[in-house]
Amino acid sequence: MRFPINVDAFRTLARRRLPRRIFDYVDGGAEDERGLRRNRAAFERLAFLPQRLVDVSRRNQSTTLLGQTIAAPLLIGPTGMNGLVWPNGDIALARAARRAGIPFVMSTASNVSLERLAGEAGGELWYQLYVLHRDLADSLVDRAASAGYRTLVATVDVTLNGKRERDLRNGFALPLRFTPQACLDALAHPRWTYALLRSGGVPTLANIESSNGAGIEARAALLSRQMDASFAWEDLSRLRDRWPHRLIVKGILRPDDALRCIELGADGVIVSNHGARQLDDAVAPLDVLPEIKAACASGGALMLDSGIRRGSDVVKAVALGADAVLLGRATLYGLAVGGEAGAFRVLEIVQDEIDRTLAMLGCAYLSDVRAHHLRPVSSGYGALFGGFTHGDQAERYEHHDRGCQEERTP
Ligand SMILES: Cc1cc2nc3c(=O)[nH]c(=O)nc-3n(C[C@H](O)[C@H](O)[C@H](O)COP(=O)(O)O)c2cc1C
Repeated sequence: MRFPINVDAFRTLARRRLPRRIFDYVDGGAEDERGLRRNRAAFERLAFLPQRLVDVSRRNQSTTLLGQTIAAPLLIGPTGMNGLVWPNGDIALARAARRAGIPFVMSTASNVSLERLAGEAGGELWYQLYVLHRDLADSLVDRAASAGYRTLVATVDVTLNGKRERDLRNGFALPLRFTPQACLDALAHPRWTYALLRSGGVPTLANIESSNGAGIEARAALLSRQMDASFAWEDLSRLRDRWPHRLIVKGILRPDDALRCIELGADGVIVSNHGARQLDDAVAPLDVLPEIKAACASGGALMLDSGIRRGSDVVKAVALGADAVLLGRATLYGLAVGGEAGAFRVLEIVQDEIDRTLAMLGCAYLSDVRAHHLRPVSSGYGALFGGFTHGDQAERYEHHDRGCQEERTP
């Protein structure tokens, strides 16, 4: 099968392949979707300042994350209901990640159980936890440890579900209902419908169904995506005590929160606005990354997601201090187009773009990339957002860069 040549073209094809309400569930953001645009704008307003006459004939984008070597500064992030995009989508994504030599993060809202994924996919698997219900969360955490997961990602930006207006308009809700409109949509996408029927029909929330701690309440909560909104610092601390392995906190946007996570014993944070699916006007993660890097200078892995569509985006995030980034929709578009092969192709494309960016930037190694390789595009954004002038921003990056130098010098 011939695949598209970039993530955006995969998105266009995914829109054709998936019924509208499924595509919109994947693609959409909260409310007016300003956050989706803001996430992209954050990357677009940074330009590269390449260094010339550097020997870049041999390049290497592998890196170390939490003590482990990964082939690229990438992870496939946690996404729920992957089985609606492709039959057994969780396994397909995990296998694509394994082939690419990077970790896969399984969502609480996955459609295969965490035990089955561990048995069938292999590779470096992380488990993402939503706290819907305390007893259920405890049971999931214990199961993940027994099944061999060694990194737990606690997502803390879903105190309640974002107002995703495409889903509201399309009547997308769990359990999936087949209204006349939805049936017509399914008929218009026979390949998707056939694959869904062949794989056993509408996928279930396998981790919850099979959990001892899953009472009726917990199931209803996950189906309506109602989280335990009382989950606070002392609960995170309790989780830290219960989970004996690496703990990462996902959904952090403030330096003080990031520092508090690390002080509490977390091994790292993921700077994320949940791909603009929660609070529409939340800040773009890239815009706060330098401050968070400075706040966590003493330690902890720093990851970022939200809006990554190109290898050059990855390099910009690394230049501002990220150790690695997570892909959300990018690999889902690949999954929609070609299952495991499609998701793997997206990873290959992003890795190739990272490699090209490194070469043209004058960096043989990923660890050579620094903030001095970036300049804000002079487009008047500084004035628009009132905070900084072009010069201030450049100075801020240079300041940040000095902070990173010691740490990265071998
Ligand atoms: C369809 C979909 C489902 C998601 N489900 C989850 C989830 O179950 N748990 C979670 O922590 N984040 C979830 N996210 C957020 C992603 O992990 C990630 O933060 C986001 O997609 C990154 O933005 P990007 O899609 O622009 O790359 C989901 C995102 C999408 C698009």
